[in-house]
Amino acid sequence: TGLTTLDYGFVNTASTASAITYIDGDAGILRYRGYPIEQIAANSTFLEVAWLLLYGELPSADELDAWEKRIRRHTLVHEDLKHLFEALPYHAHPMSMLSSAVAALGTYYEDSAAVDDKEAVELATIRLLAKMPVVAAYAHKKSLGQAFLYPDNSLSYVENFLRLNFGTMAEPYEVNPVVAKALDRLLILHADHEQNASTSTVRLVGSTKANIFSSISAGISALYGPLHGGANEAVLEMLAGIRDSGESVKTFVERVKNKEDGVKLMGFGHRVYKNYDPRAKLVKESADAVLEELGVHDPLLDIAKELEQAALEDDYFVSRKLYPNVDFYTGVMYKAMGFPPRMFTVLFAIGRLPGWIAQWREVNTDPATKIGRPQQLYIGSPERQFPQR
Ligand code: CMC
Repeated sequence: TGLTTLDYGFVNTASTASAITYIDGDAGILRYRGYPIEQIAANSTFLEVAWLLLYGELPSADELDAWEKRIRRHTLVHEDLKHLFEALPYHAHPMSMLSSAVAALGTYYEDSAAVDDKEAVELATIRLLAKMPVVAAYAHKKSLGQAFLYPDNSLSYVENFLRLNFGTMAEPYEVNPVVAKALDRLLILHADHEQNASTSTVRLVGSTKANIFSSISAGISALYGPLHGGANEAVLEMLAGIRDSGESVKTFVERVKNKEDGVKLMGFGHRVYKNYDPRAKLVKESADAVLEELGVHDPLLDIAKELEQAALEDDYFVSRKLYPNVDFYTGVMYKAMGFPPRMFTVLFAIGRLPGWIAQWREVNTDPATKIGRPQQLYIGSPERQFPQR
């Protein structure tokens, strides 16, 4: 049949060439457009990183300023779109609400849904960057039963997002600069990660020439799963479970090693990193500093550190090269900022958005790209005769 390789989970197969992100999993290296993540996290802002991922170079101060202003002008969402949330139950998971709302956004912007029109793609890029945080905050507000706020365009990207989540109609909201800075940094750390499951999904859907809104909605759905972005929520559930049950870290680790009921150490392990995830290192550094500045002492952070220590000293994890990944420490920080666990993966999605868009644009401008169409190895019944009736 011409089938050459069977590769479950694409462990050995490159699906594309890409100029956006470089990872060396053995050395624990991550670079966006050639710049090391550590240097970017120390010196940049999320919207600057978004520009870098999209256009390949750092913007000039004027370019960045004009671009930020353009994004701000597009923060309003159509009034009718808000009614979408009325049709959903209050207990709906915010990730389901987000993927629905982003697909629905596309129905309002068919003028920017053209795939091969450069200007249309540019407009769709701006619209998505501007509006996705707004609908994400609406998903949060829906679950709280609180009124949706309008964006305040005098605020920065992250400040605006915080206010939409935590502000109310009743009182003015003061953004805590420590929280805003920490969140901006977390978004930077999530901004791209080459061909992970959600990005590959965005690229596969994009390869069919589906519009960018539908492609990103599909990426959000792929990110939702606990083996991918959903791990940040699962980590917090795991830590809270250990705290509430009174189980010792040691016996929990034993249960993981014995693969009891399929229990895993969530936030550990990675397909590509066989060394410490460089993002996890940066998050861990921030976690202590941010919790201290906010005056929060969270016993979950102590449990997380104890778990990490136990795992790093245990042959089960050492021999399998299992280290903390980006999701291990983020939840503790999001919690300190006031987000409920069900919003954690939504925050990941907002961070990953520029990477998804950059990768979608790469698919749709690279002349070598073809529609994605994996092969299979058929293992079903050989030909047989349908019964005569
Ligand atoms: N806890 C316990 N054992 C593990 C874990 C873990 N978190 N991760 C992998 N292993 C074991 C696995 O059971 C296997 O053992 P054995 O050889 O005895 O069968 C071995 O390590 C190799 O694992 P694998 O499942 O073949 O590795 P993979 O590359 O297919 O999976 C992974 C990668 C991230 C899905 C997996 O490590 C995992 O499930 N981790 C927990 C979920 C998680 O934290 N996901 C977030 C990933 S990073 C950010 C993101 O993408 O969102």
